[in-house]
Amino acid sequence: TGGVITLDPGYKNTGSCESAITFLDGEKGILRYRGYSIEELAEKADFLEVAYLLIFGELPNQEQLDKFHADIKAKSLVDDDIKKILDAFPKSAHPMGVLSSLTSALTAFYPSPVDVSSEEAMYNSIVRILGKFPILVAWSMRKKHGLPLEYGDDKLGYVENILKMMFKNPNSEYEQNPILVDALDKLLILHADHEQNCSTSTVRITGSSHAGLFVSLASGISALWGPLHGGANQAVLEMLEAIKEDGGDTKKYMAKAKDKNDPFRLMGFGHRVYKNFDPRARIIKKAADEVLGDLGVEDPILDIAKGLEQEALKDPYFVERKLYPNVDFYSGIIYRAMGIPVEMFTVMFALGRLPGWIAQWREMRLNKEPIGRPRQLYTGATYREFKSIDKR
Ligand code: SDX
Repeated sequence: TGGVITLDPGYKNTGSCESAITFLDGEKGILRYRGYSIEELAEKADFLEVAYLLIFGELPNQEQLDKFHADIKAKSLVDDDIKKILDAFPKSAHPMGVLSSLTSALTAFYPSPVDVSSEEAMYNSIVRILGKFPILVAWSMRKKHGLPLEYGDDKLGYVENILKMMFKNPNSEYEQNPILVDALDKLLILHADHEQNCSTSTVRITGSSHAGLFVSLASGISALWGPLHGGANQAVLEMLEAIKEDGGDTKKYMAKAKDKNDPFRLMGFGHRVYKNFDPRARIIKKAADEVLGDLGVEDPILDIAKGLEQEALKDPYFVERKLYPNVDFYSGIIYRAMGIPVEMFTVMFALGRLPGWIAQWREMRLNKEPIGRPRQLYTGATYREFKSIDKR
């Protein structure tokens, strides 16, 4: 009957955690991985270096990086029976659903550590998933497009192999395009971790029950898929395409985004934490100009995006609510210029976020965190006597 309910003030809210991996300042638009600024890492490091930094806490020296890459390459095959699982999916399946299922299925073929007491077992599982995940990513795309499955090549770099497995044409030699390699390397760095976002929190809470690494990652992939989270990069492109079809009428879509009766949101805008420009969006916007210029791609969608951004940045509705472009606003434009199909955009986000998820899962386990158990403010009925069915 509406009694006042209070949460036990001493109850430790397991919705948040201590972490030493990524620092965000939402007001100032600052992002640092293990203390290094995202701007410097995007410019001066490569994706595997950043993965090592996030997971183990230090930038690797050349010997450490070479060993890390060699250990990953040694695990860069998947059991051929995985192809039977892949064959069971219809072509209509979204690659995120395929990726989540195959990542979870890896546990059946390669037991991932539940016991983290052995640093060696943990390390082996980490290099194993870093070696196999790009294959699953590429195969989820090849399956969708009816293309034969490709493996990497021992002579190629980590990101070069991702592009080769995605794009190698069965009846011609594969030519690496350094512009695509650099662009993808930078995009993966920019997506590599982001503190306790929805999908990372999902990975941590799944792993807190001592579920293995691979199934914890599979839960993160599912959470990332939502259009309010990683699925936004695909939704941004679909929105920009709709505006283009609509004659580039950005004002109509701005009005829709502000209309309380219209569920439409300006995809790629706003953020739970950043109440300033997302620093990654600045870097990606600059990269979009560079990559499209280097590739000689004229894409009217980029102009529409810039026009929308300019309008939103001076519109009181967006200014009052501190809604700025986020990481997803420009990334899809680069993926599209690289020839990556739109249904793969969120898969590319998952590929970038993989080292962050691994780092966060490892930290949570090494910190011996208790099982995740958020509490609630109960707002339901107070006690009621049971009534037999004839009296209801
Ligand atoms: C990612 O957490 C992370 O770090 C995530 C991420 C990562 O790297 O892991 O950064 C990646 O997920 C980026 C976000 C991608 N999602 C989108 O671009 C989808 C569009 N954005 C929104 O749905 C929204 O901004 C969220 C989900 C990102 C944030 O939601 P909030 O902080 O809960 O904002 P809110 O829903 O409380 O909205 C506050 C106000 C509301 O208006 P009022 O009720 O105050 O009148 O702002 C409005 C909202 O209606 N609003 C928007 C809007 N986002 C918020 N209005 C129009 N368009 C938008 N995009």
